[in-house]
Amino acid sequence: MIKMKAYTFTKYGPPEKVLVCRTVDKPQPKDDEVLIKVKAAAVNDYDWCATSGKPYSYRVFFGLLKPKKKMQSTGMEVAGIVEQVGESVNAFKQGDRVYADTSDDRFGSFAKFMCLKSNTLHHMSENMSFEEAASLPHASMLAYQALFEKGHLEKNQEVLINGGGGGVGSLGVQMAKLHNATVTGVDSDDKLSKMKELGFDFAIDYEKEDFTKSGKKYDLILDCKTKRSPFGYLRALKPRGKYVTIGGDSGKLLLLLAFKRLIGWITKKELHMVMLKPNKDLNYINGLYESGKIKAVLDGPYTFEEVPWAIRYFGEARHLGKVVVTVD
Ligand SMILES: NC(=O)c1ccc[n+]([C@@H]2O[C@H](COP(=O)([O-])OP(=O)(O)OC[C@H]3O[C@@H](n4cnc5c(N)ncnc54)[C@H](OP(=O)(O)O)[C@@H]3O)[C@@H](O)[C@H]2O)c1
Repeated sequence: MIKMKAYTFTKYGPPEKVLVCRTVDKPQPKDDEVLIKVKAAAVNDYDWCATSGKPYSYRVFFGLLKPKKKMQSTGMEVAGIVEQVGESVNAFKQGDRVYADTSDDRFGSFAKFMCLKSNTLHHMSENMSFEEAASLPHASMLAYQALFEKGHLEKNQEVLINGGGGGVGSLGVQMAKLHNATVTGVDSDDKLSKMKELGFDFAIDYEKEDFTKSGKKYDLILDCKTKRSPFGYLRALKPRGKYVTIGGDSGKLLLLLAFKRLIGWITKKELHMVMLKPNKDLNYINGLYESGKIKAVLDGPYTFEEVPWAIRYFGEARHLGKVVVTVD
């Protein structure tokens, strides 16, 4: 059996302690699968939560005391080159440059090779580097589905992106600007000046100002980190405004899901939560990329040896944009 290097973990803890670069069997594609030589991968919330085993509520999925066998790999965004295809795969051939959010399929992009179902994969745009491609699928789809599918963003609207300095916010601001929106970003102080360079018109330090109490109102709020009760966000919405969250504290999200219909009926303001459909509109992202309308915002690239460090760096939220790793 041919061998390869891959990061795996068998217990929870700090990434540098539990993630080990092991020599494992190189995977073989099944009939409907594609073997990819991984060139780049990106770090996500999943990597930090899975290795640390926190928040504890996530252990229902990950494994109570230690990670379940199938949850012991990390990495859920990938860009690479097709090395081999299964017998029934027609859409891809050896040498194709591909990328994907692998969360609907399996985890494990922090490895030299990875097998994925062919319908998980997309061809990369010609002018994307592997690092750029790895940074895009997850965050761009969250931003797109929040702003357009749930938020129905219209021209010239006023938008606020809470947690705007992260992966989703740095792409979300660029997409909102295509609709001539005025965009305010909220994040920690050290990211604010770079956020303005990215295109935010205004940037608020969440430790100094509570945007829900400033009196300013928005047509659309995209929240990457729901930390307050849904009732607080209503204050910051214009009449018929929309609040769309992609994630945050589970108690607050449950409250939102429980009351969203009632609140909508009483206030005529809308509360939504995005349930990500991975990779669904990547052709649209390819189009925007080719026409130069959006660009990837990279923190890195870091080396394959730095994967555990990069996951901790992400978990401590010191990054701006997407933390990416060059694998090969
Ligand atoms: N809906 C779905 O189907 C789905 C699927 C997967 C993931 N997700 C969620 O999508 C989100 C990923 O977003 P992302 O990749 O952009 O994350 P990210 O890169 O970690 O960015 C989040 C930003 O929020 C900031 N932040 C933290 N606390 C904040 C607060 N109280 N107010 C304002 N900003 C705050 C962080 O900076 P500091 O910490 O420095 O303040 C960071 O810059 C996560 O919440 C994840 O759980 C959703």
